[in-house]
Amino acid sequence: MTQLKGKNILVTGGAGFIGFHLTKKLTELGANVTIYDNLSSGKLENIKDNPKATFTKGDILDLKKLLALPKFDVIYHLAAQVVVPYSMENPTEDFETNARGTLNVLEKARKDKARLIFASSAAVYGNPTKLPTPEEYGFHPFSCYGLSKVVGEEYAQIYTLQYGLEITILRFANVYGSRCHGVINDFMDKLQKNPDKLEIIGTGQQARDFVHVSDLAEALVLAAGENAVGKTFNLGFGKTTKIIDLANMMLKILKLTNKTKVTTTNVSWQGDINTIWFDITKAKKELNWTPKIRIEDHLQTLIAERKML
Ligand SMILES: NC(=O)c1ccc[n+]([C@@H]2O[C@H](COP(=O)([O-])OP(=O)(O)OC[C@H]3O[C@@H](n4cnc5c(N)ncnc54)[C@H](O)[C@@H]3O)[C@@H](O)[C@H]2O)c1
Repeated sequence: MTQLKGKNILVTGGAGFIGFHLTKKLTELGANVTIYDNLSSGKLENIKDNPKATFTKGDILDLKKLLALPKFDVIYHLAAQVVVPYSMENPTEDFETNARGTLNVLEKARKDKARLIFASSAAVYGNPTKLPTPEEYGFHPFSCYGLSKVVGEEYAQIYTLQYGLEITILRFANVYGSRCHGVINDFMDKLQKNPDKLEIIGTGQQARDFVHVSDLAEALVLAAGENAVGKTFNLGFGKTTKIIDLANMMLKILKLTNKTKVTTTNVSWQGDINTIWFDITKAKKELNWTPKIRIEDHLQTLIAERKML
């Protein structure tokens, strides 16, 4: 097991969905964790529920403030603008946060000689023609968000090459779990408001690789190990689920099959991807990580947490 006990760890974006779960795990392992977050999409509640972590409110675009933080051994860089349609409407803002912001965090890592773990995304693959998609498929972004993550990855590679920084790049598939945002949360919101109808944005035939946040947090811890230095990993479940099937699974759990009218807009948002399905062979072999939670088994828990059953 990766030894993080007593290590000083910075988690940018630690007030967000994934940051919350990661921070909790790191403090349980005995690490001294500092969350650095501007709370643009992160929540104070996530900070309050992680009392063992120290919180500094700040922006990754504020290089001076970032560099003035104490010295860290490990940095998890999760802070980002995470919404694909928003990136298409606000490409310069997306670029600032995800590209320049990542460069600033790399500068902090360079100053501290810290180990860096960077949260990238399936969006760097765009609409892959190879499924399941392995890491070496390479960059084919299809949205401004995907491109800004590519830029972050490319800067990380240069910092490894030129400054010898120890970096691991993790490309996440669709992460879900308690406190999540995204399609599952969206469907629960809609059905809670009105169980008579459910509108799916797009054709419903889009498919996603859903990985549970507790499996992901385990991989994030393993990624701080020596054997992950200089490597890039896909983190997904290694299976793909159509959005229409996801909707039907949820309706079945809620006993709403044949009661809720499901419609599709047929037109999706700009930059939307058709199918995400990760090849996770490399993470299994080299990180020694195997995701355990299947979405079909976990949906019931998520729905119950919302008190919808
Ligand atoms: N959730 C997913 O399915 C998914 C999939 C692929 C990649 N990712 C990546 O994982 C990371 C975490 O995503 P998440 O789902 O937890 O999103 P999130 O929106 O819940 O968390 C992002 C956090 O970053 C903070 N933040 C944003 N801009 C900032 C800035 N300029 N300075 C400081 N803090 C800032 C937000 O306040 C928020 O707390 C992101 O890098 C995202 O791109 C997530």
